Amino acid sequence: NYPNFVKIIDVGARDGLQNEKQTVPSDVKIELINGLIDAGVRKLEATSFVSPKWVPQMADNDAVLNGIVKRDDVVYSVLTPNMKGFDAALAHRDQFANYEVVIFGSASEAFSQKNINCSIAESIERFAPVAYAAKAHGIKVRGVISCTIGCPYEGEIHPDKVAYVTEKLVAIGAEHIGIADTIGVGTPIKVQKALDAALRYIDIDNISGHFHDTYGQALSNTLAALQMGVWQFDTSVAGLGGCPYAKGATGNIATEDVVYLLHGMGIETGIDLDKLVDVGQKISAFLGRQNGSKVATAILNK
Ligand code: HMG
Ligand code: MG
Repeated sequence: NYPNFVKIIDVGARDGLQNEKQTVPSDVKIELINGLIDAGVRKLEATSFVSPKWVPQMADNDAVLNGIVKRDDVVYSVLTPNMKGFDAALAHRDQFANYEVVIFGSASEAFSQKNINCSIAESIERFAPVAYAAKAHGIKVRGVISCTIGCPYEGEIHPDKVAYVTEKLVAIGAEHIGIADTIGVGTPIKVQKALDAALRYIDIDNISGHFHDTYGQALSNTLAALQMGVWQFDTSVAGLGGCPYAKGATGNIATEDVVYLLHGMGIETGIDLDKLVDVGQKISAFLGRQNGSKVATAILNK
């Protein structure tokens, strides 16, 4: 029993580019985001309000948000790990009809320390005022949990840890939870267990799968999540990405590959695959990188 429609949250401009060593000019990011919207993407991560010392690539958050196309039918998300980030993000609130902040925790203590420089418990304390302030301003709050299957420092992660962090994030006001396989070690049954654990505290309509493809399992994991009724996925055009605090992690599953899978199953996404392929190819060419989407590569070689 598959859903009729799947919502894609393209994270390419954020998760995809944050780890890029060469500075990607704001204009290129703006063109990327505008291209995604033109291809039919209706929810996307535009940038992060994090420390520019930690993630220099996202330092141009203001320029990117100012420059992109604003549409009422698009949800624009930005990462805000603390009040400093939230306050900076808030300045853009009136530019967007649908603006969302993302608080991002971890199911692994060690990864929490490496990624956001605090324990899981401390992270919840930092996120709580962000979620509270966001609600007060009518801004949606999405939570993402990293390392829900495995951690580069701790190894395998027990689903109970995913349940625990989900409960905490929901308790402080997260309306949606993304279950991230940050280092792409998951396989279908493990992913289903992590999702099941989160589903103890969040509704199926408010959960997304965020799968990285490091071990080539992300498409299988997407299908496994679909079979559970999950209908929202965080994906990255051209498979861009990697996490600065997860060595060797490759990109998220490519949006093109997920869209091809879905359309092939008769599931609608609202996305024009050919246009999307062009967007992915353009950014890959700019980065001097082979396109990380198999579907895009196949279509371009036809
Ligand atoms: P910290 O050093 O603990 O924070 O960093 P602090 O409050 O002690 O502040 C230290 C300095 O950072 C100060 O500046 C602050 O002003 C500044 P200084 O006085 O030294 O000049 N600062 C900030 N500047 C701008 N924006 C802010 C901000 N906060 C503090 N929001 C912090 C804590 C979270 C900020 C830091 O650890 C950080 O930025 N980490 C990077 C987090 C990140 O972006 N990671 C990648 C995204 S998560 C991800 O990719 C996973 C995901 O895709 C899911 C998955 O696949 O797993 C979501
Ligand atoms: Mg990610």
